[in-house]
Amino acid sequence: MCGIVGYIGRRDATPILMEGLHRLEYRGYDSAGIAIASSGGLRVHKCKGRVRDLEKCLPTRFKGAPGIAHTRWANHGEPSDLNAHPHCDADNRIAVVHNGIIENAAALRSRLEAEGVVFRSDTDTEVLAHLIAAMPDGSLAAAVRAALRLVTGTYGLAVLDAARPDSIAVARNGSPVVLGIGEREMFFASDPSALVRHTGSVVHLEDGEVAIVRSDCFETSTLEGGPTAKIPSTINWTNEAFEKGSFAHYMRKEIGEQADAVRRTLSGRLDPRFATAHLGGLGMSARELLEIRRAKILGCGSAHIARAVGAHLIEQLARVPAHAEPASEFRYRNPVIEEDTLYIAVSQSGETFDTLAAVQEIKRKGGRVLGIVNIVGSTIARECGRGIYLHAGPEISVVSTKTFTCTGLTFALLAIHLGRIRDMSTAHGARLLAALTALPDQIDAILAREDEIAALAVRLSACEHAYFVGRAAGYAVAMEGALKVKEVSYLHAEAYPASELKHGPLALITPQTPTIVVIPRDDLFSKNVSTIEEIRARRGPVFAITHPDEMPAWIDGIVHVPRSEVELDPLLLNVPLQLLAYHLALQKGCDVDQPRNLAKSVTVE
Ligand code: AGP
Repeated sequence: MCGIVGYIGRRDATPILMEGLHRLEYRGYDSAGIAIASSGGLRVHKCKGRVRDLEKCLPTRFKGAPGIAHTRWANHGEPSDLNAHPHCDADNRIAVVHNGIIENAAALRSRLEAEGVVFRSDTDTEVLAHLIAAMPDGSLAAAVRAALRLVTGTYGLAVLDAARPDSIAVARNGSPVVLGIGEREMFFASDPSALVRHTGSVVHLEDGEVAIVRSDCFETSTLEGGPTAKIPSTINWTNEAFEKGSFAHYMRKEIGEQADAVRRTLSGRLDPRFATAHLGGLGMSARELLEIRRAKILGCGSAHIARAVGAHLIEQLARVPAHAEPASEFRYRNPVIEEDTLYIAVSQSGETFDTLAAVQEIKRKGGRVLGIVNIVGSTIARECGRGIYLHAGPEISVVSTKTFTCTGLTFALLAIHLGRIRDMSTAHGARLLAALTALPDQIDAILAREDEIAALAVRLSACEHAYFVGRAAGYAVAMEGALKVKEVSYLHAEAYPASELKHGPLALITPQTPTIVVIPRDDLFSKNVSTIEEIRARRGPVFAITHPDEMPAWIDGIVHVPRSEVELDPLLLNVPLQLLAYHLALQKGCDVDQPRNLAKSVTVE
């Protein structure tokens, strides 16, 4: 979604801002823009299209500082040059970049128009530029605070004032802004990935905070003007973690990084002495965990599917009833919050609006919620206050791959921890720990079969529709496989519980509609074999993702996956489907890392 980057200091802002915009491209956007306050006043350039299109339209001597820049993902008004940010007031003194949605924009716009303001765009953001410009003379902070007090909605924003170029105002309400502290220079961005090249020292703004950023300091306050205290934290990610390196696409790089990501998720968390998992961030005693009667898991997209894997693991290993629900549905159905339920919010980015809103709803009703999050210090992680970080490293590709695997793995750790407090035997715990340790090498063994999977993608690439089916945890893997295929290759891939096929979808099975069946070696193995017989009887092509076991000789293709402990098999079965989606996208010539209409982190409703 939209991205913000800003700079104030002695250097020329343009290269810093353009590099920052490139870093934010992965979030998904449709237009880009930049504003620099130089001695001659405000200079603004913006256009529909990619950051490289903006670069092309910048004059050669586009220099100066401070500056702000933006990548826009359209919500109010179509993608166009005029609707791209920054937006300015009538005198071109104030420039604003904004992520989020101003809900009362229509009313504010009518009021400003009645006062004679002429709008140049269809956006909600332009309202902010005119409002700030209309505030009585005073400090920039006072003008921004006064304008924001009139606004309802969400924002992460930055305001440049050509008349006061010694500072930039930034503010946050529901959309992240991070300040980066340099040596007599300051940076800020909506996403730390745009800062890591310059500094590891960051400050996260809280909702309702306004910051005035100067080259050598910053001050934060509430919307009413009361000062707030901030303590800088450190980002440990290296600049290289954000580079594609020798890979053609981030998606392929991140699939290949899974073994290392899994090692990092496991690092320091296996406790062989008690055959359990050690999870320092849970912040709950064994007694408190024993009192939990149910787990309710919430997330969106791949995180919503990973929570289905998680629910299965918690029920199987800890024998605690666990239920998963899309956060986007949960938050709107006035949910009953129970004291003895452990609520778990799952999010790679830690910024997904619907998941955050679900967390806030649970907390508001007195519920206990922990986060399973990748981005350290992200909004959901901070809102939950307790939880488990994935430590999967930055994931730049819009589609989740390594973070899906690491989320499943984190649920396995949590389930073992909960299970060992209850009835799981030491021997079972020890077997699971050994299996977890073996996962990285097993993942690499699957990646070594890439050619086989690429060949399967060639066979599937001519199809218009495909089914992905499985049972229990195999169904969750099928759902994730279908989502990956849809996202990157635009093939219509439908996931269905294998047991439900005969209740309807079998009608659509034809020789042109392949089915990919995910078959763990669990108690349901023979039932899955019956399913593929059913499909075969309708002359549907069948491809199995399974362990080296006996499959009917007539099957159209098999991808073999090493066996783990049966509860952990889904983590491995998911990997070939990631490669399948990737190679299907290559076959179909799709934009792998930035699929159409999608954004990496969905920070609006
Ligand atoms: C997955 O491939 C997607 N890009 C998307 O479904 C994603 O998982 C979802 O938007 C949730 O994001 P989060 O994990 O950052 O909360």
